[in-house]
Amino acid sequence: MLIYRNSDKIESCDTCCKTCLLALCNAGMDYGVSGRPRSQIAAKVVVACSLTVLCMFMLRQSSTAPEEVIFPKHDGVMHVLVTGGAGFIGSHAALRLLEDNHRVTIVDNLSRGNLGAVQKLQQLFPEPDRLQFILADLGDSTAVDHLFSSNAIDAVMHFAAVAYVGESMEEPLRYYKNITSNTLILLEAMKKYDVKKLIYSSTCATYGEPEKMPITEETPQKPINPYGKAKKMSEDMIKDYARTTDLAATILRYFNVIGSDPEGRLGEAPRPELRHHGRISGACFDAAMKVIPGLQVKGTDYETKDGTCVRDYIHVTDLVDAHVKALEKLKPSKVSIYNVGTGQGKSVKEFVDACKAATGVNISVTYLDRRPGDYAEVWSDPTKINNELNWSAKYVDLTETLAMSWKWQQAHPNGYHPVAL
Ligand SMILES: NC(=O)c1ccc[n+]([C@@H]2O[C@H](COP(=O)([O-])OP(=O)(O)OC[C@H]3O[C@@H](n4cnc5c(N)ncnc54)[C@H](O)[C@@H]3O)[C@@H](O)[C@H]2O)c1
Repeated sequence: MLIYRNSDKIESCDTCCKTCLLALCNAGMDYGVSGRPRSQIAAKVVVACSLTVLCMFMLRQSSTAPEEVIFPKHDGVMHVLVTGGAGFIGSHAALRLLEDNHRVTIVDNLSRGNLGAVQKLQQLFPEPDRLQFILADLGDSTAVDHLFSSNAIDAVMHFAAVAYVGESMEEPLRYYKNITSNTLILLEAMKKYDVKKLIYSSTCATYGEPEKMPITEETPQKPINPYGKAKKMSEDMIKDYARTTDLAATILRYFNVIGSDPEGRLGEAPRPELRHHGRISGACFDAAMKVIPGLQVKGTDYETKDGTCVRDYIHVTDLVDAHVKALEKLKPSKVSIYNVGTGQGKSVKEFVDACKAATGVNISVTYLDRRPGDYAEVWSDPTKINNELNWSAKYVDLTETLAMSWKWQQAHPNGYHPVAL
């Protein structure tokens, strides 16, 4: 486990570490556009991994290694542990929490997230006692225990997860381990260190393919892929644990998350190696930027308005707002569950049209067979969250939302990493 305080900044830890982290970034780990041949990327990844191992070894040996922790006291400022805070949604949540004057510890193993997002947050909130980044894997129970034993955490927002339906069909055990087993490790640490507030990132994938739309919180959960099943198992653990303790938890079941910070401070920068699992907005922008030749729409024979899948696209800023409202309203021994969506279903074809309008690029589209594990249509009924948390989605115009993200993508053609070695 490596700890970086905001006063250390990641850039200012020792030279070896800096080199290693920058190498990670430049090796496509914290990635940007990849027009490069695969062999080159693979070589860079190997170099980056070796440097990282060397870096970790040297930090362990070094007496100047940042071993101590800085947030050990409850002092009236809410201290939120944001797991997966280097990722797309977690980084936006950390930004909002910091803006709201909370204290934030991000824990992330950087398997998928962006170190650049953490660096951006450090730039925005350089004051001491505001933000620290802990490089650790939630599957490492010793590291998680240490994290809790040495920090006075008031609440946890648990975003960290592998999160691709298609990948979960190919690697189911990875999903159960990363999602279900890691949530168990986290709950055990929360129990041991008496941390009583939790907001959990769940998903509409836990509902599977319901017969009736829109989906309410009462819709039966019948997940049809390991991703949805693993998330449902985590939900069940949280509910059972809260039944016997004073845990105050909210489970938020997100629909399809898109968008980026309206002020352009953060964005979505998935890794090149994950592109083929593809989230639609990333693929649209890649196609618009000619990083990929065009878009592949998988499935045109679903029983939907135009044959393509229908989804409910929720803006990340709206989603984060739901977290903050949920955090304010937590109640001991109670697990609240909310769908977080706009309540509007948009087809893939409609999404592509919005993307063409937002980018001004006539993206080429190829229509293919269905992808295993996908469901035809999914959209939410957000009445419960509207009423109970006084929350509603503000960014509901797809073209406007995509135009906002496109602006960030154009300003960051290399993802978070303009940094050269
Ligand atoms: N993006 C969506 O549309 C969507 C929809 C529904 C639910 N969700 C849920 O929201 C959460 C965040 O998703 P995201 O889109 O930001 O994904 P992301 O991949 O951008 O972020 C996930 C982060 O978790 C980190 N992580 C993964 N495994 C880890 C581990 N074992 N230890 C420490 N860190 C680890 C990754 O490095 C990454 O930074 C996930 O739980 C996901 O299931 C996302």
